[in-house]
Amino acid sequence: MLTAVTGINWGDEGKGRVIDLLAEHADVVARYQGGNNAGHTVIHGDKKLALHLIPSGIMYEKAVPVIGNGVVVNPQVLVEEMRMLEGEGLSCDRLKISCDAHVIMPYHIELDKASEFRLGKNEIGTTNRGIGPCYQDKAARSGIRIQDLLDEHVFRMKVEAALEVKNAILEKVYGKRTFTVDEICEAYLPFAEIIRPHMAETAQLLNDALREGKHILFEGAQGTLLDLDMGTYPYVTSSHPVAGGCCIGSGVGPTAINEIMGIFKSYTTRVGEGPFPTELFDETGDYIRNAGGEFGTVTGRPRRTGWFDAVVARYAVRVNGLTDVVINKIDPLRGLPKLKVCVAYKLKNGETVTEFPANFMDLVDCEPVYEEFDGFDEDITNCRSFEELPATVQSYIKELERIIECPITMLGVGPARDQVMTIK
Ligand code: GDP
Ligand code: IMO
Ligand code: MG
Repeated sequence: MLTAVTGINWGDEGKGRVIDLLAEHADVVARYQGGNNAGHTVIHGDKKLALHLIPSGIMYEKAVPVIGNGVVVNPQVLVEEMRMLEGEGLSCDRLKISCDAHVIMPYHIELDKASEFRLGKNEIGTTNRGIGPCYQDKAARSGIRIQDLLDEHVFRMKVEAALEVKNAILEKVYGKRTFTVDEICEAYLPFAEIIRPHMAETAQLLNDALREGKHILFEGAQGTLLDLDMGTYPYVTSSHPVAGGCCIGSGVGPTAINEIMGIFKSYTTRVGEGPFPTELFDETGDYIRNAGGEFGTVTGRPRRTGWFDAVVARYAVRVNGLTDVVINKIDPLRGLPKLKVCVAYKLKNGETVTEFPANFMDLVDCEPVYEEFDGFDEDITNCRSFEELPATVQSYIKELERIIECPITMLGVGPARDQVMTIK
């Protein structure tokens, strides 16, 4: 049994909390893309933990957490996260890391920052974690993988070869500091020894698990609109968060996937730059930001906020092949007199479209067309079944389901493990 969980907007839809819920019944929980640009919040007892690299299933002893080949790994962040979790009494002994995952090097981080600085007002607004430059090296076939890190001789050779180019770019293009082979080896090789026992052929591990009838959960990072191909390019990340990405990033075939759950919020947020048709610049936007605590888990940046965008949602339902939808964070909308859902875009040429536009400039210049629904004033954070919800909330969810053309099977009414309901 294989369930993929993917973000549907521009990230931060509450994927971590959904994985944390589903992982109770999973045997394996695997990340397949992204790196420590992700910040997935899970609530463990009375503590709120932000996970960047280690799958959110780490909370359950039965689930084997896997970092797949499609993930980019900063070894220092990984080791710090393992220590943080162990400090919380959560063992990382069973963590498996693909020997084929690429390593984020110190020069990737410098290049990320330098490139953003050079772009100036056209910056992407990256997390500055070296994600793009690391995936660039992977695509250029000059990257360094976990298996290289674990062989001192190979690692030195590869770092030396990389620095010939990276130092020239850092110094001559960007006027930035350069790196020596020794300083990188000194910083990184100690991490290799901590990582070594966890290195595994994760594609084989996952396929074996499938053959044995085990339940695998795939934990997507980022979201569909940040996908390198399906997102709002170039304002995207450099990997494939969409469900199709989980095959390439893990080594299981597409026919193995049984369920694809798309995670939405009842409103939309975005961090970083790029088009966002339903963005609110008024007090309603501030209200949602404050009520939803919409400040970045990774960088602390205030998230841009806006209404639910069903044009995006319908697009995401299709490009992910969703079987189910989860709507998180309906509770922060309490107190708003009207709830709006964008059902179409009015383009600059006057045309109204209901499908996600292929042309980037149409997305930049369009005006959202809204349907309005009644708001609610009741505290819904203690509701645990659909029938307990106020009629206005029930009808809002039913309307969303009709508009996005995919069953909504779970609803989050608060961040805690039990503040969620399944909908039949
Ligand atoms: P992720 O990156 O998709 O895992 O999402 P983040 O963890 O970055 O952001 C989601 C935030 O919303 C976290 O602080 C969660 O604890 C919180 N959250 C998730 N679901 C709900 C919900 O239904 N209601 C409320 N109020 N908060 C939620
Ligand atoms: P989770 O998994 C929200 C955004 C950045 C920037 C763009 C590219 O927590 O949902 P990158 O550093 O990846 O090159 O930045 O992508 N971004 C995210 N936004 N949630 C995330 O992850 C994100 N990971 C990257 O803000 O706009
Ligand atoms: Mg996040």
